[in-house]
Amino acid sequence: MQDADQHRFVASQYSSAANLDARAALHAHYSANSYGWFRWVWDQFDLRMGDCVLELGCGTGELWVSNAARVPAGMRLQLTDLSQGMVDQAAARLGDQPLAATFARVDAQSLPYPDGRFDVVIANHMLYHVPDRDTALQEIARVLTPGGRFYATTIGEGHMADLYTHLAAPDVGYRRRGAAPFAGFTLENGGAQVSARFDGVAVRRYPDELRITAVQPLLDYYQSMGLEGLETRLEQLREHLQRELAAKGSIRIGKDSGMILAFKPF
Ligand SMILES: C[S@@+](CC[C@H](N)C(=O)[O-])C[C@H]1O[C@@H](n2cnc3c(N)ncnc32)[C@H](O)[C@@H]1O
Repeated sequence: MQDADQHRFVASQYSSAANLDARAALHAHYSANSYGWFRWVWDQFDLRMGDCVLELGCGTGELWVSNAARVPAGMRLQLTDLSQGMVDQAAARLGDQPLAATFARVDAQSLPYPDGRFDVVIANHMLYHVPDRDTALQEIARVLTPGGRFYATTIGEGHMADLYTHLAAPDVGYRRRGAAPFAGFTLENGGAQVSARFDGVAVRRYPDELRITAVQPLLDYYQSMGLEGLETRLEQLREHLQRELAAKGSIRIGKDSGMILAFKPF
């Protein structure tokens, strides 16, 4: 995706939490792995008492809502996002939690912090949206202390590919226009990008799939994706999904999500 298109996509997708909420609702209700994505994400962290932690692209702050009871004593947290709407939503949700958190609108490509300020930087499902990703990775390395830990979740290339199979079915006939907005930083190509600036790069995957038993939440998900021209095929898609559900009892959508872990060289 071109930088200008990515910029437009991010601005319209994340001006408020509505699109992210529609997608989170589908995952929350129909994921086969009951362990829980945000619980698994937290399990991968090495967080220590007194750590100073920066999250980039924090969205609605769900990571911290889901793991509120697991936050180590004395941890200081800076939650940031490019979208002021997201920052406001995260602050509203986390304001009454006993977290030493501060909130700010920050672009990952230009971090307003001194060198070596943080022990940990977290970037969940957001680096694929950043046009100048190498500058963002350079900035992340700059604000980390030597040996500081970096965690970035993202998707694999086949993540939710079944969504597009349904769209391309003859009775729907929708063809995606333009490049996929998530292809620039995946579980397959992200490790090489991170290893240009970090050591100890590892990739871990969370096994899961969706088994969906109602059409409307899936349609809501499709509508949250910002797919150009989808509205003209929406009724065909609804009928196609209704037929699928009646024939199979549930609609399976494969997922492939995980984390890239690394640390700043000493
Ligand atoms: C898919 S959401 C992920 C939200 C959250 N991290 C999660 O895992 O639920 C991507 C987030 O990245 C933010 N974002 C996109 N580009 C960004 C940038 N250049 N700098 C900081 N945040 C950005 C968006 O506003 C959005 O909140």
